[in-house]
Amino acid sequence: MEKIEMQDTYINKIKNIINNQKYGILTMGCQLNENDSERISGILETAGFTKTQNLEEANVIVFNTCCVRENAEDKLFGKLGEVKKYKEQNGCIIAIGGCMMQEKHIVKKLKESYPFVDIIFGPHTLKNFPEDLYNAIIEKKKIEDILDIDGEIIEGIPTVREDKIKASVTIMNGCNNFCTYCIVPYVRGRERSRNPQDIYDEVVSLAKQGYKEVTLLGQNVNSYLVSEKSKGENVDFVVKMQNGEEFKVNSFATLLRLINTVEGLERIRFISPHPKDFTDDVIEAIKDCDKVCKLIHLPLQSGSSEILNSMNRKYSKEQYLTLANKIKEKIPNIEFSTDIIVGFPGESEKDFEDTLDVVSKVKFEQIYMFIYSRRVGTVADKMENQIDEKIKHTRFDKLKKLAEEIIEEKNKEYIGKTEKVLVEGKSKTNSNIYTGRTETNKVVNFEGKEELVGKVIPMQIISEHMWYLKGKYDNI
Ligand code: SAH
Ligand code: SF4
Ligand code: F3S
Repeated sequence: MEKIEMQDTYINKIKNIINNQKYGILTMGCQLNENDSERISGILETAGFTKTQNLEEANVIVFNTCCVRENAEDKLFGKLGEVKKYKEQNGCIIAIGGCMMQEKHIVKKLKESYPFVDIIFGPHTLKNFPEDLYNAIIEKKKIEDILDIDGEIIEGIPTVREDKIKASVTIMNGCNNFCTYCIVPYVRGRERSRNPQDIYDEVVSLAKQGYKEVTLLGQNVNSYLVSEKSKGENVDFVVKMQNGEEFKVNSFATLLRLINTVEGLERIRFISPHPKDFTDDVIEAIKDCDKVCKLIHLPLQSGSSEILNSMNRKYSKEQYLTLANKIKEKIPNIEFSTDIIVGFPGESEKDFEDTLDVVSKVKFEQIYMFIYSRRVGTVADKMENQIDEKIKHTRFDKLKKLAEEIIEEKNKEYIGKTEKVLVEGKSKTNSNIYTGRTETNKVVNFEGKEELVGKVIPMQIISEHMWYLKGKYDNI
């Protein structure tokens, strides 16, 4: 509490000195990273800065980094070369935050080769950003503000969201799973859950502002409160609701049920659950809660039991398929999306065929595909049987082809059906066309009008294209 008040005074001090200044922010990571950027924007805007898309005219430039795959690093160092010029022209402050800053070799490289960077901060020290910024602007100091231990959950940092219809709400930080390919547990620390009252209050406030959809975020959302429980903490929370009644929350399933009661909210999504923790109470909650979208993101990573074992995913091919089938049986019309990595060390043709087999069986609505990328400090980086880049790419292309065939086949099934579409706004490319999404997260384009924005309307699907559907609504 003391810390946040102290940070408020830094925000006010900055506000008193700066005049008509702008900031630019580049977000390089996942939705959690984006949500952190919304807080960085919140801090900067409270301190009086206005946002610009043009980094050349920004007085403060923030990069919020990711390190889950190698290309994220290439992107950061490329961008740094670009903003160096701006720094030379106008002396702007350059701040770099996010997961990559938790990697010691990266911070070392930055300090040695990019000395023009003013502030280095991590996800655990985001709350200190006002103080760090003040010291960089006024005291002209170079700041390195990184914590190796897990930061506590801090409430009350202002948040500025760009979208006015859909919002992300972080429900927990960190990850305890240590999948062998993944850097996230090393940079984000152990699982810490937010208090359900804070989550509820944030969602209620979003709904009051007119938001229609929230996505509950965490690296492993269905272990919400689990780590606290295992430490012996009391996780039987009593949340005070809008109508004055009380609601008991002690798990992810009960949190879903609570959020489902929020007035004005139309849709609830969540990413990502871990298949190993997908308990029956969560399935029941998804089924019972009308606002919870009937699309589950269920990360597969690989379809081979051996590779899954080597990845430390703690489920086999059969267990994954059994879970997907159980969910399909219990929840009519449920659809799945997934994440898949190709070219994990030791992946044989047979292993890869198993991945294709699961893809053909589950028929995902959407697949986020990744080529395995070695991450320093992870177990898989040290495995000797790394896969040749060429083979990785051939497999990636093969998986992509299969995924697209399935998407096309599934898109055809939408034609003639009436889908509920949450209208998000005008299409970026054609001003007569409006765009929205089905519950299954498919983009639907249609000829519409401004007053439909933010509404969920039934729409008949008239045609399909690879990446979107075309719809028509009854104009009455
Ligand atoms: N916690 C989430 C995902 C976090 S990272 C989950 O468990 O599903 C998002 C995705 O990036 C992962 O699902 C995985 O498919 C991919 N990914 C993570 N590390 C990777 C690596 N080293 N190489 C390639 N893809 C990776
Ligand atoms: Fe990474 Fe696995 Fe944790 Fe997801 S569950 S963040 S893939 S370690
Ligand atoms: Fe997200 Fe990348 Fe960090 S995926 S949690 S921003 S390493």
